[in-house]
Amino acid sequence: MPAQTPAIRTPDTGHRPASRLNPRRWLQPAVFDFWARHFNRTWSAERILARVIERRAASARATTLVLKPNRHWPGAVAGQHLDVIVEIEGARHRRSYSLSAPPRADGCIEITVAEVEGGLVSPVLARMTQVGAVLELSAPYAGLALSHIRAADRAQTSSGRMAAELTHPSLLVGEGAGERGRTHDAGSLPLSPTPLPQGERGLNNMRTPAPALLLAAGSGITPLRALLVDALAKGETRAITLLYWAQTREELCFHEELLQLVQGHPTLRVEFLLTRDSAAPAARINATQLQALAPELSTCEVLACGPDGFIARARELCASARGFQAEGFTAAVPEKSDGARVRVQLKRSGLALDLPTDRPLLQALEEAGQTPAFGCRRGICNTCSCDRIAGATRDLQSGDLRDEPSTPIRLCVHSAAQGLVLDL
Ligand code: FES
Repeated sequence: MPAQTPAIRTPDTGHRPASRLNPRRWLQPAVFDFWARHFNRTWSAERILARVIERRAASARATTLVLKPNRHWPGAVAGQHLDVIVEIEGARHRRSYSLSAPPRADGCIEITVAEVEGGLVSPVLARMTQVGAVLELSAPYAGLALSHIRAADRAQTSSGRMAAELTHPSLLVGEGAGERGRTHDAGSLPLSPTPLPQGERGLNNMRTPAPALLLAAGSGITPLRALLVDALAKGETRAITLLYWAQTREELCFHEELLQLVQGHPTLRVEFLLTRDSAAPAARINATQLQALAPELSTCEVLACGPDGFIARARELCASARGFQAEGFTAAVPEKSDGARVRVQLKRSGLALDLPTDRPLLQALEEAGQTPAFGCRRGICNTCSCDRIAGATRDLQSGDLRDEPSTPIRLCVHSAAQGLVLDL
């Protein structure tokens, strides 16, 4: 029997079903939005809009934006992600970011945006988005979770309304990565006892919480910081070790705050590993390092977030760990390119294109001048999903060849493999 897709339930934020006064009953949403924004720029018939109420530096090149979403925000839990949609020179762009702090009691949320060199959206968000600006958001989705905190959240929110569907529990997204097309390869967030994806090991039924080992590289710190702060605020007492790799001291996010958390929580240990430190550069993640810094690895629940290469190495090194979830940053691509192309027919537009097999269909279609919808570009949000009517695609995350007809596929994590017909 196929596994049921679990629903993530998030806190009840007071959102209520449409009333007779709801503008959707008597106005087209776009028309309502056009007029409403003259009164309040966060008013919308159905879109999630959020005002920036605070911005602060998280590191030398990362900025935390505190956002106050409108009533359409369904609530979220630490470890989840959202898409930010911004308009730049008339074109809408969508990037995925992790919540970098647990949602606040006043309904505000935080994201931390690292400016990516040569990026399009991250400089706008990190440098130019000022207090008072309004951003459009997606509903939250997927995410990493500490096992028994996850269980507590599930219990706490079981009466809350459904906020998001975990459509692809094996996949994720985030920023830092956002700008690079954040390839969230990651950790599953099974809020119900759903089988974890291959390579992920869960702890849903664990009676005694295992020590937690958090592995962060670069902007991978953002969801882990949210989970850490959330867990400590909920009275977490088990041992937690955070190993945080960055290139330089200036690039460490939340440095002072993490040091303060260590001061207040004797069971928390944080190690900063600076790979380009002029005095004593740290090595990239390796077995010797883990043995020295996390000798109890085999008893640990491991959560890792960072670039895909980091995640692949972490997964390998943590094979003996008690549980493993991960989230990576760059789009999955085949290891080799042989220059092969296959004919791809787009049913709705009637176009026939010869597309390369060595990259995600989403990228190949864009290079061919098409504009398919996309969100996270990491296989998480399902925005790019369309039916494969015929032909075969390769799942870039598992490497599997798929050829079931009339089956939805996510263009960002599948490549063309054999002559294809897509419902596009
Ligand atoms: S763009 Fe999000 S799943 Fe493809």
